[in-house]
Amino acid sequence: MKQDMIVILDLGSTENTVIARQIRDMGVYSEIHPHDITLDELNKLENVKGIVLNGGENRVVDGAAVEVADELYGCGIPMISVDYPTSKCAKKYDTLPSDAELKAFIFDECKAEANWNMKNFIEDQVELVRRQVGDKKVLLALSGGVDSSVVAALLLKAIGDQLTCVHVNHGLMRKNESENVVAVFKNQLNANLIYVDATDRFLDKLAGVADPEQKRKIIGGEFIRVFEEEARKLDGIEFLGQGTIYPDIIESGTKTAKAVKSHHNVGGLPEDLQFALVEPLAQLFKDEVRACGVELGLPAEMVYRQPFPGPGLGVRCLGAITRERLGALREADAILREEFAKAGLDKKVWQYFTVIPDFKAVGVRDNARSMGYMCVIRAVNTIDAMTATIERIDYDILEKIADRITAEVTSINRVVYEITKKPVATIEFE
Ligand code: XMP
Repeated sequence: MKQDMIVILDLGSTENTVIARQIRDMGVYSEIHPHDITLDELNKLENVKGIVLNGGENRVVDGAAVEVADELYGCGIPMISVDYPTSKCAKKYDTLPSDAELKAFIFDECKAEANWNMKNFIEDQVELVRRQVGDKKVLLALSGGVDSSVVAALLLKAIGDQLTCVHVNHGLMRKNESENVVAVFKNQLNANLIYVDATDRFLDKLAGVADPEQKRKIIGGEFIRVFEEEARKLDGIEFLGQGTIYPDIIESGTKTAKAVKSHHNVGGLPEDLQFALVEPLAQLFKDEVRACGVELGLPAEMVYRQPFPGPGLGVRCLGAITRERLGALREADAILREEFAKAGLDKKVWQYFTVIPDFKAVGVRDNARSMGYMCVIRAVNTIDAMTATIERIDYDILEKIADRITAEVTSINRVVYEITKKPVATIEFE
């Protein structure tokens, strides 16, 4: 392994990620592991130079305090404890150590080297993936989102032909999105990529369904079924690659913290189709995943793209989806993205998109009264998507976008700008 590592044991701290980032900022790789790691498991991790026992307010789970296994104290690796009562640690801190204190531990006591960078991370993960997978085959659902794209590029580097990617086009992708996935992965990177156009299947199932949660269920359920059908056609697959990243693990609940929401990356396939998971990005934060993608040579548009919900345009074509309105939405969204890029707003705004409600409004086109759809533009900024503020867009830019949308998408005769914060509104409309 190229990199030294500090292991953080999660003994109920809410600040595991803060200390992990603090250590990585000092140039040393750190990983967060559950409190009940065994000595054997710890010994399997390589280049562990130090251990942080990180306690805190979630240390009591179901009435019992979580403890680290006694055998760990004899491992010979330097340890500190933070907000974790133990007599077996030489150094104890009640609160997060300062940078200077942490540096003294990491560099003086642990003698760790500051050799954490993306190049070394990738080399280490390539080796770990090769060891885990051997000569077996790995299947990956490649949506084209940042995480699945980066994991695909990493697995491709590690195991090449042993990787098969499946891209399911559910018909709710943005303009040219599926085409780009094929262009980058199949044509440029020579990946084994199975492209499944399941548009009709999804849209037929969604016909007449107006309830947002029902729509999400249909899209999610159908996605699993299509992927499962493809998986069954392939022989000898033993592993499933996943673009799970560290925030997904936290949100799905750790051993000491309750789930915020169940994550779409975890589970879903039928019992008889269970694979062992390959998750080389599971210890990375989003910005690190992007840096990893850049280092692997993925195009910037793919690595720095804005978040896009799994159900895609399905939750932006409000109410019961029709092909006509979905088509208009896709065109309007493409125009918005093009104009945002021209104005440099694509690098500034966190998420921006169009929405089309399921009613028509009166307008005038070609000197005659006509009914057309209304297109809503939403552009928001946020840190964690829990709260959001609106971007104050220049009126000239808005007017240009409105002119283009109404000229190029003739079923739309009105464009409005949404000015509500989250809360009380959510970012998406459904
Ligand atoms: P809301 O609308 O809840 O959105 O304020 C917060 C963030 O989550 C995204 N979002 C989703 N992502 N599946 C996803 O993968 C979904 O069903 C979904 N719903 C909302 C939304 O785009 C925003 O970034």
